[in-house]
Formats: sequence, C-alpha cells, structure tokens
Amino acid sequence: MTTFSEVYRGKRVMVTGLSGFKGRWLGKWLKLLGADVFGFGLEPIVGPDGRRPPLEDEFESITLDIRDRRAVADFVSAYRPDIVFHLAAQPLVRAGYDDPCGTFETNVMGTVHVLDAVRRCDRTEVFINVTSDKCYENREWSWGYRENEAMGGYDPYSASKGCSELVTAAFRRSFTDEMRPPYIASARAGNVIGGTDWSADRLLPDIARAVLSDEPIVIRRPLSVRPWQHVVEAINGYMQLGAEMLLKPGKHVEGWNFGPTDDDAVSVRDLVKIVVECWGRGVIREEAYPQGPHEARYLKLDSSKARDELKWVPLLSIRERIQWTVDWYRETATDPSAYWEVMERQIEDYQRRWNEWIETKTSESSLPAAAVSSVRTSRAA
Ligand SMILES: NC(=O)c1ccc[n+]([C@@H]2O[C@H](COP(=O)([O-])OP(=O)(O)OC[C@H]3O[C@@H](n4cnc5c(N)ncnc54)[C@H](O)[C@@H]3O)[C@@H](O)[C@H]2O)c1
Repeated sequence: MTTFSEVYRGKRVMVTGLSGFKGRWLGKWLKLLGADVFGFGLEPIVGPDGRRPPLEDEFESITLDIRDRRAVADFVSAYRPDIVFHLAAQPLVRAGYDDPCGTFETNVMGTVHVLDAVRRCDRTEVFINVTSDKCYENREWSWGYRENEAMGGYDPYSASKGCSELVTAAFRRSFTDEMRPPYIASARAGNVIGGTDWSADRLLPDIARAVLSDEPIVIRRPLSVRPWQHVVEAINGYMQLGAEMLLKPGKHVEGWNFGPTDDDAVSVRDLVKIVVECWGRGVIREEAYPQGPHEARYLKLDSSKARDELKWVPLLSIRERIQWTVDWYRETATDPSAYWEVMERQIEDYQRRWNEWIETKTSESSLPAAAVSSVRTSRAA
C-alpha cells in the first residue's frame, strides 16, 4: 500500500502548470512531504486584490511556454526529475471555443513536448498526465465512464484532452516497456473546487469575486447539476498513483479515473445556497441564460479501479468541500499572508483523515502494517 511520505521525501518532482490552481496544491502537498518541487507555467492569474500568488515562497516555478519545444527539453535536461506530474494546459471549455488553435497547441503539442523531453531523460521514472473527465467520447448517457472507454470530446477543449490521452498512450507503447522507464499513466478527474482558484469563468471564483465586492451572485443555469470535488481529493489520487508507480516499477501504466460519487453531484442553485450559508454573506440573483456554446451532459466517472487498486475514495462531504473552499477565500481576503497557511491546514487535515481511512482498510485486509505507519505527513513522521 502507498507510503506517501517515504516515497516522496527527497524526490525530485517536476510539476508542469505549477503556477496554476491544482499545481499549487500539488506542489504544496509534495513540499510538506519533503519533496524537492520545481516546475513551470505561464504567469499566475492574480486575485481581485491584484496580488500575484506568492509562488516563489514555496517552490522554484519558472515562466515558460510549453509550446516552445526547445525550452521544455532544456528545462527537463537541466532539472532531471524523478517523477513528472503534467498539469499545464489551457483548462477552460469556453476559452477553447475562443482560441481552438492555442488550446490544441498547448494541450496536445505541449504534452508531446513534455513526453518527448522526459523519455530522453535517463533519470525520470514516472510520468503522470493529468487530463479530464471530458477526455471520453460523451455518449450523453447516465452511466459512469470506465477507463477503457473511447476517447473523444465534443468541443476543442474536451477533444484536446482526448488527444492528450492518445499522445500519452502512443508514447507509452512506442518508447517504454517494463524494462524501459519512464512508466507512463494518466489521471482523469472532473470539476474541482478549492482555495487559490481565481480563474475566469469558473463558478466558485465567480462567487468569491461577487461576495468580496458586495455584488449579487448571478446564476444563469440554476438547475444544471455538476459533481463538485475538493482539489485535495483529486490531488490525493494523483499522488497515490505516483507513489504506487514509484514503488512498483512498471505497474499501473494506464489511465485512472478519480471522480466523485453520485451523491457529490448537486445543482448550481443548491451549491450557491450552501456557499452563502457557509460564508454568512452573499445575495443570489438568478437570470435567464443567453444562448451560449453547446453544453454537453456531464460525464460521470466510474472510479471503481482507483477504489479497488489504490484504495482511493473521496473523503469529504459536499458541505465540507464547500466550507473549506469558502474558508480559504474568506480568510485570505482579510489576511493575504494566510495564503499558504490555510492550504497547509487543509492538506494536513485531509492527510489525517486519509491515514485513518487507510488504517481502517488495512485492518480489514491483509495490507502490511508498515504501509500504514508510513502514511504520515512529514511532520508527524
Ligand atoms: N480545475 C478543474 O476543475 C479541472 C477539471 C478537470 C481537469 N483539469 C485539468 O487539470 C489541469 C490543471 O488545471 P487547473 O484547474 O489547475 O488550471 P489553471 O488554469 O489554474 O492552471 C493551468 C496551468 O497551466 C499553465 N499553462 C497554461 N498554458 C500554458 C502554456 N502555454 N505554457 C505553459 N504553461 C501553461 C498555467 O500557467 C497554469 O500553471 C489541467 O490540465 C486541466 O485541464 C482541471
């Protein structure tokens, strides 16, 4: 079973998209476990107070465009990572409609550039491509999608994630095998929420901007139902997968779903009501939705494989996910220096819950006792 802290302590971990929302959470957690974390991305998105996220306080994050093949190759050969988490992407459906060329260049050729650089690095053992639930061909049905289903994507962003998966599989088949690392896998999660996200066109950042500027929270698709996962739950899945792959060379080289359960899907109207309750502030205004681009039925992920083989499950209730997210926006609005503190507190809380969960699983099965004792934060270890 996964030995989180021992596996990552001292490891050289490269995170593409380290300047982004998920990249910051992943980088912070890895750093708490004692990893040497570095990576690249574009300039980070600033919050409503105009402050740049304090990345340099925590890790070595370089500004570099993934479309520049030479720069990516130079970065990898200079930093020589043990493991790479590839998160850099144009991650928004709407922006994909506005700039399809840029979206495919970044999400498809960007993945090619990183994979090609990594396969030439004699140190790198593991590569994990973070894609999306949207990588699957959307059959507009109610069942959960399993990892062996067809790749697809209706709109440019979704299709770029399907393509990124195909690129990943082609590199794995063509350039690696059990004796030839890097061992390559991909991780697919859906909508995530959590502090530090100030992206445009995402519901929680939009709500936080409205509340903090005393504007009404305008919702246009109140009945639209989406799954809502906290960022630590998806990141925990990526890290479990990475740790298992480092421990068992050549195993787990495939796609993995890390999706929420059915109970985690709530309507936008209900979600916003809970946000207002948790925050104790905010006025909701529902407006008619103007004609927009096609919105596909959401793709439900079947995460049975991660649950069975990695023991991974989401551990927070929907209310806790929203409360944790609101806590970050609220606390950092009055005290910007709490930026990393709130994240750290939440990561450590989650790690405690994970330890308890995995101990329960261990006592139910024949997992070695050593596995449990090593699933500790670096501080507790
Ligand atoms: N946030 C979600 O709900 C969600 C859901 C499913 C999948 N994902 C995937 O997770 C990954 C991270 O998403 P996020 O939510 O952190 O988004 P984000 O926009 O906060 O971060 C994206 C990162 O990619 C970097 N990037 C974008 N274009 C780049 C370029 N041309 N060159 C170098 N770096 C570039 C950005 O600078 C940033 O560091 C993406 O691959 C996204 O598709 C996110």
